[in-house]
Amino acid sequence: MNNRMLQSVQKKYNKTPFYLFDEQGFINNYNEMLDAFRAIYTKYQISYSYKTNYTPYICNLVKRLGGHAEVVSDMEYELARKLGYPEEQIVFNGPVKGARLEEHLENGGIINIDNYDEAKRICDYATLHIAHQYKVGLRINLDVSGVFISRFGFEPESEELHKTTQLLKDHPNIQLVGLHCHISRARGIEAWRKRVEIMLKATEKYIDGVPEYISLGSGMFGKMPEALEAQFGSNIPTYKDYAKAVIKPIADHYSHIPEEKKPILYTEPGTTIVARYISFVTKILNIKTIRGRNMATVDGSYLNVGEICTLKNLPVIVKESGQDRHHYDAIDIMGFTCLEQDCIYKDYSGELAVGDILTFENVGGYSIVSKPQFIKPNSPMFSVNKEYEVKEIMREETFDDVFSKFNL
Ligand SMILES: Cc1ncc(COP(=O)(O)O)c(C=O)c1O
Repeated sequence: MNNRMLQSVQKKYNKTPFYLFDEQGFINNYNEMLDAFRAIYTKYQISYSYKTNYTPYICNLVKRLGGHAEVVSDMEYELARKLGYPEEQIVFNGPVKGARLEEHLENGGIINIDNYDEAKRICDYATLHIAHQYKVGLRINLDVSGVFISRFGFEPESEELHKTTQLLKDHPNIQLVGLHCHISRARGIEAWRKRVEIMLKATEKYIDGVPEYISLGSGMFGKMPEALEAQFGSNIPTYKDYAKAVIKPIADHYSHIPEEKKPILYTEPGTTIVARYISFVTKILNIKTIRGRNMATVDGSYLNVGEICTLKNLPVIVKESGQDRHHYDAIDIMGFTCLEQDCIYKDYSGELAVGDILTFENVGGYSIVSKPQFIKPNSPMFSVNKEYEVKEIMREETFDDVFSKFNL
């Protein structure tokens, strides 16, 4: 985000708070990742993680850039269909798929089964439509860091996985054609190397012949402002580093296979490609000190910004707009809600005044999709393109949006 983008939006919309989408930054980042991975494996494909940020304008932009859709609910599936995605470009993941699963299966969409009961559900459907052939994939459970036990997918070598693959293989009109995985809290290169090793071993063991696809999920570090990068305390891998560690072993593994028969290799970036390109702009409404604790309260909330601000101090740009300026060694930037924990930034150091405009960067992931209708409806979002043209891509929520669903 640069200052000219902020000014462009403020010319059109003279209120706060709002989200700002840096469209060209997003496009450049998307292409940089794609180019780095495709340079090594031409059948690499981005499948954008809708749950991270399902703003339709952004999903549509991904579509225009050639990206596919990764969805985990009927709601997200519906959006991908509305945007015009054919079923074979929609990857349906998740532990609880809705009633649209069978429609997706019927129309040749990609489905990654999470558990034995879901496999049974698919088999029951296939039994009723025995003249038709169905293709499915499975999610492999990963243990790459040992820090926690993930709840998703099938543990490699487990009885559950054996039972499920047997069930699918014994079924006359179902074919197991792909494997999927994803793990959070393991973004480093070593964890990714291990992920690929596990997946290649699993495809050899559980898929007959060459798989049609391998999906590695996501959980890479994306690009981020320096102030945020410094808080991760280690070298953040570049897309080229990931390409070498993650894409190259897959390319090598299938180097002897003719191009048209090689599996499609998906990753499912969400925060990785979108986080940096959305900022949240909010205004300081009051400043106070209680028993030595300085606090500036703004018209936004940590609920607008998402969980990241509880884990890290987000990069913040201050546009000095207020008059009565003071320097603070440590001041907490607090949100509008009545929650004690509504702190957007802990111990900010610098000069602030009531009326200052604060821009919190890197809030593209799990922000607008996680914002509850708590106390105040959500804020609008504006995109700014490379010509600095501004477009409202999400209108401000109204009171009616909040209350109209209730019955008296
Ligand atoms: C299955 C799956 N794919 C993709 C993603 C997106 O990963 P990221 O936001 O790290 O790019 C997630 C995030 O939790 C996920 O669960």
